[in-house]
Amino acid sequence: MDTSKQRIKIAVQKSGRLTDHSLDLLERCGLKFTQSKDQLFCFGENMPIDLLLVRDDDIPGLVADDICDLGIVGLNVVEEKRLGREFEGRETLFDRVFDLDFGHCRLSIAAPDETPYTGIESLENKVIATSYVSLLRDFLERNTVNADIEYFSGAVEIAPKLGKADYICDLVSTGSTLDANGLSEVEVLLESEAVIIQTRAPLPDDKQELVGRILQRLDGVLQVHESKYIMLHAPRKALDEIRRLLPGSEAPTVIPLEGTNDKVAVHAVCRENVFWETLENLKAAGASSLLVLPVEKMLV
Ligand code: PRP
Ligand code: ZN
Repeated sequence: MDTSKQRIKIAVQKSGRLTDHSLDLLERCGLKFTQSKDQLFCFGENMPIDLLLVRDDDIPGLVADDICDLGIVGLNVVEEKRLGREFEGRETLFDRVFDLDFGHCRLSIAAPDETPYTGIESLENKVIATSYVSLLRDFLERNTVNADIEYFSGAVEIAPKLGKADYICDLVSTGSTLDANGLSEVEVLLESEAVIIQTRAPLPDDKQELVGRILQRLDGVLQVHESKYIMLHAPRKALDEIRRLLPGSEAPTVIPLEGTNDKVAVHAVCRENVFWETLENLKAAGASSLLVLPVEKMLV
């Protein structure tokens, strides 16, 4: 019997902007790993869940081919792969389960600072260098612009200086790569962030159950990300106003206070960060003894 079949494999970027966040997220889901000597495989110590550390561009393929059950990867890579397969008339074979709220960046077209750009028609009959051929092709087709796509596997930002292209289409995060190369963003094609994808291959029941559990924990970790637990005392008559002021909270718990009839304690989970301004508004509405605590785990 092949016992590796009952273990779940998650594909994660080996080294890059998503790596630390991805590993941190899985650790916050309670998973512990030992890294192998070759550093490409992490064995799950406390659950049958292992990691494969690979190039981000390979992650959708590994999940589509059912070599990994789940993958954490940028939406830019996912969409490039999905559109590439679509253009070839092939099925996608993986699903985007949910967004992970880190690794935010965008795929943009950028022009050399000295290029006069007056709108999308400026791209007509020009050469655009990119490693995101399918996303760019899709964008040009949707906007009925005719332009030549020049494939670059890396260092796209130097293509205009080399005289290889008029524009580039690449990821922008802080914008410092564009700045350093005298380029400015002119069109945004895609807002990207890390997402989790799952294979479409049907899984045996025990594996499916495990995938469900890990997805639920991930969801819990994401929910607590900004959540705060807030406690305060308030006059009973101010309750409506206070409920209204509590950011992103469902029904708060109202507890009577010993020895008084007109004052209560209010406890609530707020699904958004609680800023000083909110506390000041609550105080102005009559609240006192305000306390805001971080939420560590949540299972809904
Ligand atoms: C991207 C992109 C730029 C850089 C932009 O590469 O190709 O080089 O990041 O980031 P900045 O706006 O913060 O300067 P990335 O590091 O994601 O590598 P990859 O595309 O090869 O995976
Ligand atoms: Zn990459």
